[in-house]
Parts: sequence; C-alpha cells; structure tokens
Amino acid sequence: MAETLLFLRQLISRPLQVSAIAPSSRFLARAMARDLGPQTGRVVEFGPGTGRLTQGILQAGVAPENLTLFEMNAEFVTHLRARFAGVTVHLAGAQTAPQLVPKGVGAVVSGLPLLSMPMALRQSIVAAAFEILAPDGIYVQFTYGPRPALDDDQIRDLGLSCTQTAYVALNLPPARVHTFRRG
Ligand SMILES: C[S@@+](CC[C@H](N)C(=O)[O-])C[C@H]1O[C@@H](n2cnc3c(N)ncnc32)[C@H](O)[C@@H]1O
Repeated sequence: MAETLLFLRQLISRPLQVSAIAPSSRFLARAMARDLGPQTGRVVEFGPGTGRLTQGILQAGVAPENLTLFEMNAEFVTHLRARFAGVTVHLAGAQTAPQLVPKGVGAVVSGLPLLSMPMALRQSIVAAAFEILAPDGIYVQFTYGPRPALDDDQIRDLGLSCTQTAYVALNLPPARVHTFRRG
C-alpha cells in the first residue's frame, strides 16, 4: 500500500518521467525475469520505480550483489536502497550505464517508458545497454502497445534481433515483453 502511494505521488508530480498508471504486476515481473537465474551473472535494471521488476529479478535467483539499478527519481532511489539490501542503486539515467558498469553484463531488464521518449533518446538508451552487455547478453523490455519499443529500422541499425517473449494480460494495462539480442 505504501509503495502504491509512493508510485501515485511520483506519477502526479512527474507524469512524464513515470509514464505509467500503476506499478507492474507480479505476473509481468515474472515474465520479464523468465530467462534469468543465478547463471545470468551480473544484471542491470533500468527504471525500477518502486521495485516490482527488481523483486521478480531477485526471485528468479539473481544474487543482490549481482544486481545494479539505474533510477532517475530520488524518492524511488531512497525507497529502493532501503528495500533491497545488497543491490547497487544509482541515482542516474539509464543512458549513463556505460560510465558506471563494467562490460560483460548478462541481462539488462528495462521498465523504462521508452515509447514516451523521443526516438533519439530511446535509441541511445538501448545502445547504452548493448555497450555493457556480454556478446550473448539480452535486453528485456516491456511495452503496453502491440509493437516493440524500437522500430524495424532502429533494430536493424543497432544490429539487433527482437522476439516477443510474453503477453501478460494480468497487468494494468496488459503488456508485451520483447527480448533483444545481437545479430
Ligand atoms: C513506467 S515506470 C516503471 C516502474 C517499474 N519498473 C515498474 O515496472 O513498476 C518508469 C520508471 O523509469 C524511471 N525513469 C524514467 N526515465 C529514466 C531514465 N532515463 N533512466 C532511469 N530511470 C528512468 C522513472 O522515474 C520511473 O521510475
């Protein structure tokens, strides 16, 4: 309940930054983390908000010490640091990840509202993710619309492939999960 109130307060004060009507459901969190586990190694999350996806990532078996979060909202960062002991939380934009995280990450999980962002920022955030990802690393992103967060030209320009890996009806609103890889 306290988390929902925190989310709603931030949604009212920073609607463009939050860009969602509710935190993700546990069903979406599970779908986002479905290919993750202790074997994934280091994992980075973009835009964790109150930490719904963070919880799913940890429940999938990723060790807290192997998880790094990038969140731009200071109130969410205070909450995340108190809630998730052992997890590294940066008060910073996702696009700065290559300056703060060594290369070789196994997965980047993103709860960012990419479709509400200008095209150039969207592309630079996904490019930043692939700068830190290992050659076989994955970028997992949900959207509320039918299409992935990047269009076909951007996916091709970045040298990526994209697959829809889940449709989650039990989320407000229903969401699709896309997994991006190199090649
Ligand atoms: C739609 S909310 C998602 C929250 C959470 N991941 C969830 O699924 O419930 C988007 C979050 O991304 C954060 N955010 C927006 N732009 C960001 C950026 N460039 N870098 C990091 N976080 C950002 C917002 O502050 C907000 O917490």
